[in-house]
Amino acid sequence: MKNKLVVATSTLVAGAIAIALILRPTRSISPLPELGTPEHIPPAARAVIRSRMQRHGEQLGNLVSRVVVLDYDGAARTAGEIYDEPTLARPLTGDELNAVLPERFFVLQDELRGEARRLVAAAARRDSAQLAQEFSVLTKTCISCHDLYLHGTADSASGTSPGRQPPIE
Ligand code: HEC
Repeated sequence: MKNKLVVATSTLVAGAIAIALILRPTRSISPLPELGTPEHIPPAARAVIRSRMQRHGEQLGNLVSRVVVLDYDGAARTAGEIYDEPTLARPLTGDELNAVLPERFFVLQDELRGEARRLVAAAARRDSAQLAQEFSVLTKTCISCHDLYLHGTADSASGTSPGRQPPIE
């Protein structure tokens, strides 16, 4: 009898916990930041670009948390992922994307990979100052490209000339 009661009670408790778990307010997940929609990019072209770019935000969030705590291996791994991310091929003449994306877009895309590679190197050397430096340069490239994409002017992109690294302050 006593045993039965224990079983019944524990079943009740387990049930209550289960219900509490089911009913608990779902943690509000703040929506991921989105880049605005530039008017000059046709939706079809945008969909192509978007499919390639989706992981950027996640990767940068991951990277910043690794870099700030000097998790060199984690930083190297995440920067390696950015490096490995598929890039948009420079379009052939007549390609729809060619009309909407300036050459500078592809230059920035290359720069991002170059910076990711240098960040991996700095992390591998356990060089915290260099790691911080590379991180900030990499982030600037994200912003430059978004600015270019949204506003469509090459000069809005941090003033670097194509094929060159942004000056290191
Ligand atoms: C070569 C250009 C380029 C570079 C460099 C670049 N991005 Fe993007 N990114 C884009 C474009 C274009 C879009 C918009 C795609 C669209 O229209 O939805 C975008 C979208 C995003 C979005 C929004 C995704 C969404 O679903 O709306 C985030 C977040 C983002 N990028 C983060 C980053 C971060 C972080 C970096 C640097 C590590 C970076 N990007 C580097 C071009 C770039």
